Amino acid sequence: MPVATPVDGTVQDFTKRTHRLLIDGAWVEPAEGGTFVTRNPATEEELSSVALAGSGDVDRAVAAARRAFDDDHGWRTISGAERSKIVWRIGELIEQHADELALLESLDNGKPVDLARTIDMVFAGDLFRYMAGWSTKLEGDTIALSSFPRPGQAHAYTVREPVGVVAQIIPWNFPLLMASWKVAPALACGCTVILKPAEQTPLTALRMAELIQEAGVPDGVFNILTGEGETGAALVAHPLVDKVAFTGSTEVGKSIVRAAAGNLKRVTLELGGKSASVVYDDADLETAIPNAANAVFANIGECCTAASRLYIQRSIYDEVVAGVSEVARTIKIGVGTDPESEMGPLISSEQLERVSGFIEAGRSDGAELVTGGSRIGDTGYFIEPTVFTKTSPEMSIEREEIFGPVVSAIPFDSFEEVVERANDTHYGLAAGVFTHDLKRAHQTASLLRAGTVWINTYNHNDPALPFGGYKQSGWGREMGHEVLDAYLQTKAVCAVL
Ligand code: NAI
Ligand code: MG
Repeated sequence: MPVATPVDGTVQDFTKRTHRLLIDGAWVEPAEGGTFVTRNPATEEELSSVALAGSGDVDRAVAAARRAFDDDHGWRTISGAERSKIVWRIGELIEQHADELALLESLDNGKPVDLARTIDMVFAGDLFRYMAGWSTKLEGDTIALSSFPRPGQAHAYTVREPVGVVAQIIPWNFPLLMASWKVAPALACGCTVILKPAEQTPLTALRMAELIQEAGVPDGVFNILTGEGETGAALVAHPLVDKVAFTGSTEVGKSIVRAAAGNLKRVTLELGGKSASVVYDDADLETAIPNAANAVFANIGECCTAASRLYIQRSIYDEVVAGVSEVARTIKIGVGTDPESEMGPLISSEQLERVSGFIEAGRSDGAELVTGGSRIGDTGYFIEPTVFTKTSPEMSIEREEIFGPVVSAIPFDSFEEVVERANDTHYGLAAGVFTHDLKRAHQTASLLRAGTVWINTYNHNDPALPFGGYKQSGWGREMGHEVLDAYLQTKAVCAVL
């Protein structure tokens, strides 16, 4: 794989720095002095040395966030208008620094710089601004009490208050975007935050932390602890943390639920998926084929929504398989910093092994490989987009989350059959439906047990649209006004007059 990395000086300086922890408004060394390295997944070269937060640092950060929340003049007591301005400013700063952030993201995560710029960074900026608007609209209700015959005998109302100190643990597939999905609503609601980025991709979150300081967020309101799973686990177990918001694997999600029991902290989870796209025989294949391909290949399949099961009505099966395979064969794969690249490498050697393991299992289970299936080169974690046919529901490629560019193309005959098969999974994150029949589209959407159903599109996310999982894909919703429920709690005030 060619290495084209003409890296801008500002970004180079940033990667060369020794990265510390942001605790209580100051960049500090980790108490135990540990560090870890983050690598460029395209070259396997070391990019940066980053502080490894230990349990002492977790204690310090939680104490700072606690103080910044509990204090009489704390973040929760600042007017909504003031919080709104600050959160908006973070969005503006992300927009102003989007080129730099996109390049940093491309180096750390591997994704094409152009996609990081036009998707991740734009969405992150928009999300902060959308959430800024909510700071001034956190309203309760007045309640007519059912036990009093007339108004004037009692006065009852609800107030929406921030939940408190929030630990936010995020993955590596959309590093800055996932940080934004978490941080923006929490700050808008008046919570204080300790963010734990993924160990594979801490750099854009560290740069964002500087921008958050520049936007005027008071000391201790936003803290960043870089580290591995253990740092995350220490935050989840901490008795002074009120809430954990997590995005990552279902397995770790379940361990968080268990660990949160100590002080019964609130938990929201965005976990894995095994999403389905369904192409009916009346669909416009000119849009359905590229969309169905993108539904699984976008971000090299490292998407919790990746539609790795593609159900195609039998009469158009061969045509759609051929079309999706053609897309797979023609995607330009390369180093993310090369502007020509449309797909970068997987995030890590572990992920390469994992995805290759699924492909191997598919082959030995008897599925037919139409295209792809191999690693590309021997430096960097590049892999070919892969299409399988002749899979069956018992095979791991059709059942398990792969988190790579691998799709099972499955024929179906009837509406009833496809709904049943699409729902035959313990996940329920997202689904796509491609048809021109309005009734069929909405009937299918209504029967699919998934938190998001896209019709004639896929992965169309929006700050105003709630996102989250049914079944084992998670608890709670991010974005839209529904995310406010994750960071607010309701106080009922009842006065008998
Ligand atoms: P992971 O769930 O282990 O890591 C996600 C985040 O959780 C990271 O910040 C990590 O440091 C932290 N973490 C790990 N163990 C923890 C613990 N015990 N307590 C608290 N925090 C902890 O995911 P990993 O290992 O990077 O990827 C494994 C698989 O998980 C992937 O192949 C993919 O299938 C799935 N995954 C799903 C994601 C999604 O968006 N739903 C994102 C990332 C991974
Ligand atoms: Mg893990």
